[in-house]
Formats: sequence, structure tokens, C-alpha cells
Amino acid sequence: MLQNDRFLKALRREPLETPPLWIMRQAGRYLPEYRAVRGKVKNFMEFCRSPELCAEVALQPIDRFGLDASIVFSDILTVPDAMGCRVEFLEGEGPKFKHPIRDAHDLSMLKKNAIPDLSYVMQAVSQTKAALKGRVPLIGFSGSPWTLACYMIEGETSKTFEKPRAMMYQNPALLHSLLDLLTGNVVEYLLGQISAGADAVMIFDTWGGMLSREKYQAFSLHYMQKIIEKLPREVPTILFTKGGGAWLELMAETGCSALGLDWQTDLSDAYRRVGSKVALQGNLDPAVLYGSPEVVRQEVRQVLLAMKGKPGFIFNLGHGVTPGVNPENVAVMRTEVR
Ligand code: CP3
Repeated sequence: MLQNDRFLKALRREPLETPPLWIMRQAGRYLPEYRAVRGKVKNFMEFCRSPELCAEVALQPIDRFGLDASIVFSDILTVPDAMGCRVEFLEGEGPKFKHPIRDAHDLSMLKKNAIPDLSYVMQAVSQTKAALKGRVPLIGFSGSPWTLACYMIEGETSKTFEKPRAMMYQNPALLHSLLDLLTGNVVEYLLGQISAGADAVMIFDTWGGMLSREKYQAFSLHYMQKIIEKLPREVPTILFTKGGGAWLELMAETGCSALGLDWQTDLSDAYRRVGSKVALQGNLDPAVLYGSPEVVRQEVRQVLLAMKGKPGFIFNLGHGVTPGVNPENVAVMRTEVR
């Protein structure tokens, strides 16, 4: 049914001549055509609530670069918003929560099953799936419970997330209750996206890397494992813990299909450690895209060399593409991978 299923083949670790590629945050502000559509709507959450616009921008990087997978255009913070935290994105300031979670009372106010309120995301999935017309697979996604809890407790973005990290030691039971509640919602969220047409799902654990090994297992990995266990086995799952390079063996044991790697993780080393169990996705430093075309080609070749002849590799950046990048360099990267 899919015209290009190289991404799904790589997730199954089938051998391929060249790796498939897609880019985290591939639809975003670095693209002038994204900024044009984004300009039609004032705030970002309202944009996310417009399935037609989400489908339109999701296809932009597919049309421009001919990438091997599309990702649903939405945000991880739709879930905390629907649970009752009420999220707003302020221009140049990032997300702000009207009702952050600080105590048991705050927690008791949250919706237990918020996913019926996220039908706009499911519509974005089905409309994107229809617009793709089978050209490439569609990736659904969620934040990890730990990463979502970080935002819900802090109430905004942060470099250090002192409040959730303090809660881990001051009131671990409260934190576990919140993570449990999030886990149930994330399972329903991903199942909904799969029903609406997602061919694979990715869990973004952006803030797992700031934990100790022991706390990572207890507060982040444990809940991601529970989610993976509840998803249908035939739908591939990608686990991405930014800063999780030391724990790849633990992550690979969750039953996920692939690990997303940041650029600080050595690819050859990762393959040696877990390459017989899971596919690997990554991991070009996003800052490479600020280099000259020749530098981009050199750096891309280094990543490719590390995985040459090894099955189960998906080329990507080690984190999202940044707004200041010249799209021409993304085209150079694509051509070099091909
Ligand atoms: O990859 C894609 O193309 C799909 C879209 C996508 C967005 N956010 C769109 C977005 C995805 C997969 C995300 C995930 C996301 N959102 C994560 C996990 C991945 C990561 O980057 O670590 C996180 C932590 C968020 C939370 C978030 N969303 C923040 C902190 C911000 C504000 C900072 C910023 O970049 O402006 C966002 C906003 C956001 N999400 C934008 C986009 C395109 C920019 C907002 C805009 O266009 O006005």
C-alpha cells in the first residue's frame, strides 16, 4: 500500500542499500513555507487545533526534500493541556501553564482520561495520512510521562527543571501518581493515533537525560516500558531519551523497535551494544547544518561510515532542526545520504 516503506523496513532491521531519512522537527520555522502558513494563526495551540493546517505543514518537508517518513504536526504539550493544565505558547517565551501541578490537590483536579478531548490531533493524523496518499509512512508521537511531568510541575520550560527534580526527593509518591496518570493517557493517545493512521510511533523523552541511572529507571524508563507493553506489537516504536547514551542496553530491553540517539552518543559504539536488538536512529549534530555545504557533506559521511553495511539504521539529526538553519543545507544533507 505504501509507495516507499524503507523507513518501516529499517525499523524491522531489514538490509537496505541506503538508509531512509527524516528530520526531527522537519516541519518548522526554518522553512519559509511553514512560516507563511503559521502566520495565519495567532497562537501555536490554536494552530495545533487546526487539522487542515497541520496536514498542510506536515507535507511541506516531504514535498521539498522527498524524505522517507512524515511526522504528524502537533506538540507533546497537547496532553497536559487536555488534562487541565491549560498550555499557552507566548511569542519568544515558550510554553506557559495556567495550572501547574505542585501538590495533591492540583493532581486531583486533572482529567483521568483526557484523550477524547484530543480528537483534533486524531483528525490531524487522519488528514495527514490521506494527504500523503501512501507516499511515505506517517509517524505518530507523544512525550514521555517524565518529560510531560517536567513541564506540568515546572509550569514552563527550563534549563534545569528544579521543581520536578525537587519533587522526586520531597514527594516521590505524588510524582509517581502523576506519572501513572500520564502513562494511561499516553497509551490512549498513541492508540488513538495508530487507529487514525499512524504507521509507527515515537516517544520523546527530552528530559530523561538529566536523571541519575537509578532515577531514570524508576521515573522515566519504567513508564515508557509500560506504554510499549500496551501498544500493538506490529506497530514499530521508537524511544528517544536525549542524553540517554549511557543507558542504551536498558532502553533496548523495553521491547521498543528502535532507539533515537542524540549526537553525543557514538553510533558505532551504540551499534556494538544494542544493534542486534533494535534499530538505531540519528544522530547528526543539528549545529552541523550551520556549516558550509562541504562541511555538511563531510559530517554526514562520518555518520554514514559508522553504520556502513549494518542493517537497521535511520538517518536523522540528534535533536530537532533549529529555526536559523538554511533549508538549502537540509537539501545538501538529504542528497549526501542518498
Ligand atoms: O517534528 C515535527 O515536525 C512535528 C512537530 C513537533 C513539534 N513539537 C512542533 C513545534 C514535535 C514532534 C514536537 C515535540 C516537542 N514539543 C518536544 C519533544 C522533542 C524535542 O524537541 O525535544 C518538546 C520538548 C516540545 C515542547 C515545545 N514545543 C516547546 C518547549 C516549544 C517552544 C520552543 C520553540 O521551539 O518555540 C514548542 C513549540 C513548537 N512545537 C514549535 C513547533 C514547530 C514552534 C512554535 C511555532 O511555530 O510558533
